[in-house]
Amino acid sequence: MISTLTPQIPKAIADGQSPGRYWITTFGCQMNKADSERMAGILENMGYQKAITELEADLILYNTCTIRDNAEQKVYSYLGRQAKRKHSTPNLKLIIAGCLAQQEGEALLRRVPELDLVMGPQHANLLETLLAKVDNGQQVVAINENHIHEDLTTARRESNICAWVNIIYGCNERCSYCVVPSVRGKEQSRTPDAIKKEIQKLASLKYKEITLLGQNIDAYGRDLPGITQEGRHRNTLTDLLNYVHDVEGIERIRFATSHPRYFTERLIETCANLPKICEHFHIPFQSGNNDILKAMGRGYTIERYKKIIQNIRKLIPNASISSDVIVAFPGETKEQFQHTLSTVKEIGFDLVNTAAYSPRPNTPAASWPNQIPEEEKIERLQELNCLVESTAKKQNLRYKDSVQEILVEAPNPKDIKQLMGRTRTNRLTFFQADGPNGCLYRPGDLVKVQITDIRSFSLSGIPLK
Ligand code: SAH
Ligand code: SF4
Ligand code: F3S
Repeated sequence: MISTLTPQIPKAIADGQSPGRYWITTFGCQMNKADSERMAGILENMGYQKAITELEADLILYNTCTIRDNAEQKVYSYLGRQAKRKHSTPNLKLIIAGCLAQQEGEALLRRVPELDLVMGPQHANLLETLLAKVDNGQQVVAINENHIHEDLTTARRESNICAWVNIIYGCNERCSYCVVPSVRGKEQSRTPDAIKKEIQKLASLKYKEITLLGQNIDAYGRDLPGITQEGRHRNTLTDLLNYVHDVEGIERIRFATSHPRYFTERLIETCANLPKICEHFHIPFQSGNNDILKAMGRGYTIERYKKIIQNIRKLIPNASISSDVIVAFPGETKEQFQHTLSTVKEIGFDLVNTAAYSPRPNTPAASWPNQIPEEEKIERLQELNCLVESTAKKQNLRYKDSVQEILVEAPNPKDIKQLMGRTRTNRLTFFQADGPNGCLYRPGDLVKVQITDIRSFSLSGIPLK
């Protein structure tokens, strides 16, 4: 069943025909991006070719997000344009995949009758079968709860250097604001062997960095069998990191997203001991106030969160920490919001993704009466964003004059004489492509760079020999 690894000759290429050109727009998070890459792989395996522009595509797939209302509205405006186009180009296939598709299902067909296929995230690997039904003239909705089978094709990845590797799908938490569990379904962990094989395959293709993905990555393995003699679960994230660490050729390993409730000391020790695990942790705290955290159903206190960060910094002093925060959650007072600001100051984050609370369908908090007015949301968000930027800049001062190892990802699109890549701590860094003694660096190289310039969210430097 597991044959992400089996190369296949695209059918259409074998019989000399191409079904056309495809275009995918991805609206969501890393998981959504990873799904897009798998669906692109399926389409290419069927013989579709990537379109240069959306307008020339014969198949358009929107892989959607519904985490906040603005993400949802954006999809509708894109869809509206293509639906119109379909009237003059009837052969155009219009597909909506991902989280909004799962949330709305059949209702999307009523709203946009031009759609050919509505498919939830658990159906990404089944795109070819679903398209066969479309080719038979059906309008298809695939949103039933589904066991995610291992992919049968090779993903068409955006990068040749860094790759996403799903390890767990879905989420069993019930944060009161969050739509993810209802659109991504129950947790489903891939087996350690399937994951390792995918990583080995990536290494053989010269990938250098992998990011293990899960909405709540610390939940990895809860649904897999395996208790040790000491009564400990054998298939935890920590065990997996140990299991996949030594794949030759892979230089860096990252993972996201971590939930503070499950972030164990054992995990921190493992990260400190395994050299390929990068010193960057993305651990959303959402609010600095315990009453709000409780109303969110997060299951930890801000003191516990701070303790985790302290423990990380004790064992991994240079670790960078990033987070997600929601402002103006229902009932959040100005004082409670101040607790979020003071947490950002106190911890000194390298990056914080911020958002104003957005009521989502089928989530408890959406129907609470104590919603915060829009103007207040915007004000709080702006105040927090200013603080996040200045904190990030302050954090970046520690890089000044230091030498960082950069994994080169690509040329800088704004200046092709430069390359861009990331520090192990995930800071975007730019430097000249030509190094000392006439050497020319390329994507995939690990380069020692002396940092000379510091901005809030990126660095620049000079490559050393
Ligand atoms: N699984 C991750 C986050 C997934 S969603 C976790 O547990 O932290 C990514 C981020 O979107 C969340 O961390 C949260 O900050 C934000 N988010 C989720 N639902 C939201 C909502 N209803 N309104 C505003 N932001 C939201
Ligand atoms: Fe959403 Fe909470 Fe699950 Fe994260 S842990 S995806 S915020 S329900
Ligand atoms: Fe959006 Fe779905 Fe990701 S709602 S944030 S694309 S899990």
